[in-house]
Amino acid sequence: MAGRYQSDMTKDDVTPKHVWLNRRSLIAGGASALALGSIAGPAAASLGAVKTDYGADLEPNSFDDIKSYNNFYEFGTDKSDPARSAHMLTTEPWSIEIDGLVDNPGTYTMDDILAGVTLEERIYRFRCVERWAMVVPWAGFELADLLNKAGVQSDAKYVAFETAYRPDEMPGVRSPIIEWPYREGLRLDEAMHPLTLMATGIYDEPMPKQNGAPIRLVVPWKYGYKSIKSIVRISLVEKQPPTAWNTYSANEYGFYSNVNPNRDHPRWSQKYERRIGGGLFARQTETLMFNGYEEEVAGLYDGMDLIEFH
Ligand code: MTE
Repeated sequence: MAGRYQSDMTKDDVTPKHVWLNRRSLIAGGASALALGSIAGPAAASLGAVKTDYGADLEPNSFDDIKSYNNFYEFGTDKSDPARSAHMLTTEPWSIEIDGLVDNPGTYTMDDILAGVTLEERIYRFRCVERWAMVVPWAGFELADLLNKAGVQSDAKYVAFETAYRPDEMPGVRSPIIEWPYREGLRLDEAMHPLTLMATGIYDEPMPKQNGAPIRLVVPWKYGYKSIKSIVRISLVEKQPPTAWNTYSANEYGFYSNVNPNRDHPRWSQKYERRIGGGLFARQTETLMFNGYEEEVAGLYDGMDLIEFH
């Protein structure tokens, strides 16, 4: 492998070591908001998520990187639009309609959703189809816990998700970029996989609106657009559901969208990626099969042609 490329994102790839060591001591000194230019304002309440070993070897991006470089087309298509406009989204109260092939359909408030749930902190790689990547310390719980609450019936094969559609609060939905509301879907076994999270926070703080408050999906082995934000509906269905980007262009955005360095996007190679926060001259690193989660998830696709079913 050429020395220029590294297959892994370690602490040293993001920020020179002395800088993050220095940041850490600043954080320890309670000066993080000031020193890192946080846009959160007064410190938000901590969620108390339980630390886990997930991603213990990865150095997360700064909170600033994570909440200032976003894709959330409901608020505009520039990376900086969501941080500027997502404050318009009303996130309290919030509920998710769970329907379709479930024993307990209905409206689940955030209290219902979080009842009996222990939030975990999991540090996951996050890879956008556009070739940028981050490492994010999510706070969340396994989607399987919520689906089990709803009681999945035996004929359910897929899970469909929908984002809120609120023209009054979301300036971006006035443009017909994709068919609104934003929709996504997973096969049931993907949805039940222990890596698949419903996230309600980042850095142990409540989810910033631009990142999909109050609750979003995180599927770390798939391109970022599968990780749908600000979810208001989850439907258990028998047939593969239509999804926003696949409906827009099926050849460019497959239903599966597993991160795969061997299946190029028709308009660009997927062999390499660029880590956000690494500066203008950041090295490109090799894209990892299933974004580095091959050991955990490859078995879901045994016998499948991952080029055809991209
Ligand atoms: N969810 C909704 N509702 N709308 C969007 O535009 N963008 C997707 C995904 N989820 C998107 C969405 C894309 S393309 C990516 S890469 C990730 O959100 C970005 O998540 P982040 O802004 O938290 O990094």
